[in-house]
Amino acid sequence: TAARQVSILGRQFETDNLTNVSESVLTRIPRRLHKIPNHPIAIVKARIEAYFHKTNSRYAVLDSMSPAVSVADNFDRLLIAPDHSSRSPSDTYYINKDTVLRCHTSAHQHEVLASKASDTGYLLTADVYRRDEIDLSHYPIFHQMEGIRIFDKKSLLSESASDVFEPLPKGSYKFWHTMCTKVIDSTGLSNTSTNPIQPAHSQSDSEIVGAHLKRSLEGMVWELFGHDKNLQIRWIEAFFPFTSPSWEMEVYYQGKWLEVLGCGVMQQKILDDTGNSDKIGWAFGLGLERIAMVMFGIPDIRLFWSQDPRFLSQFDSHETKPVITFQPYSKYPSCYKDVSFWCPDGFHDNDMFEVVRDVAGDLAEDVAL
Ligand code: PHE
Repeated sequence: TAARQVSILGRQFETDNLTNVSESVLTRIPRRLHKIPNHPIAIVKARIEAYFHKTNSRYAVLDSMSPAVSVADNFDRLLIAPDHSSRSPSDTYYINKDTVLRCHTSAHQHEVLASKASDTGYLLTADVYRRDEIDLSHYPIFHQMEGIRIFDKKSLLSESASDVFEPLPKGSYKFWHTMCTKVIDSTGLSNTSTNPIQPAHSQSDSEIVGAHLKRSLEGMVWELFGHDKNLQIRWIEAFFPFTSPSWEMEVYYQGKWLEVLGCGVMQQKILDDTGNSDKIGWAFGLGLERIAMVMFGIPDIRLFWSQDPRFLSQFDSHETKPVITFQPYSKYPSCYKDVSFWCPDGFHDNDMFEVVRDVAGDLAEDVAL
């Protein structure tokens, strides 16, 4: 049989026996929700960008990168191990054996840093793709923003200190204090065996970068959630192959701890490999749907894909009305179906979810075994 081709934003790709991109995903690639004016994803993006533009650091804004990236950019160049589970075709959409639909915005780190598009940092927003379960908070396409800040090693202290966030009272981080009501940080600026300062970094350089990172992100959340005095933030130790030390930030909002982002001090090898060995930096990646769902009270992740004016028009006035609470409108009444299957070996749950999505589209709200 003749090799089938897949077209992604006008570019043709050969398929092979690893190809597992589905029709329902391919048809949504051109939508780019983060570029639709007044779409809640675009509103959150714009608010985060506005916050970072108020600091003294300069961040280039990137939001038009193609979702088709090499396996090298998505995994290898980020130092993700060859046997890491995220590489499995049951988790990642392969266009063919060398090309995937990016599963995170970190996939662009190498290309952007090597191109020297920005010598101090960038904010990159994009649609990302993961084969996943079906429920109210999971969808195979969602949107992330990646933030990178790189400093000249030589002038790290003065450059980072020029971002004056707030006065410096006691009980604070080494360099900056937080103005939020409560920040729980049991990780401090960590140098533990699971979350080490890199051998390439001095302890003080790593700590300055880590403090600038945490302080920048606390300020971002403080701004996003409307300077709410009841806001609580906590830092959790995390692991990412492309940062060390690494952290996750959680926000306590409406009675629940919500994981908002992952971040850390960039692996020096990535800076070295991209011709930036005189730099040191931090990176974060955050999920925009998560934040938008909380910020606007949107109960179901599939609503972001709705083209119903009853959804979109609710966000038209966001510039004059910063706090918007989504008003649900009638959907189809729910209807349960029980189905039995005899599955061949190697059939993954995610393969089943793909079948459901291709047949039922966004009508399927939850699939449970
Ligand atoms: N790429 C990570 C993810 O998708 C998030 C991240 C980005 C973590 C940058 C650290 C630094 O989970």
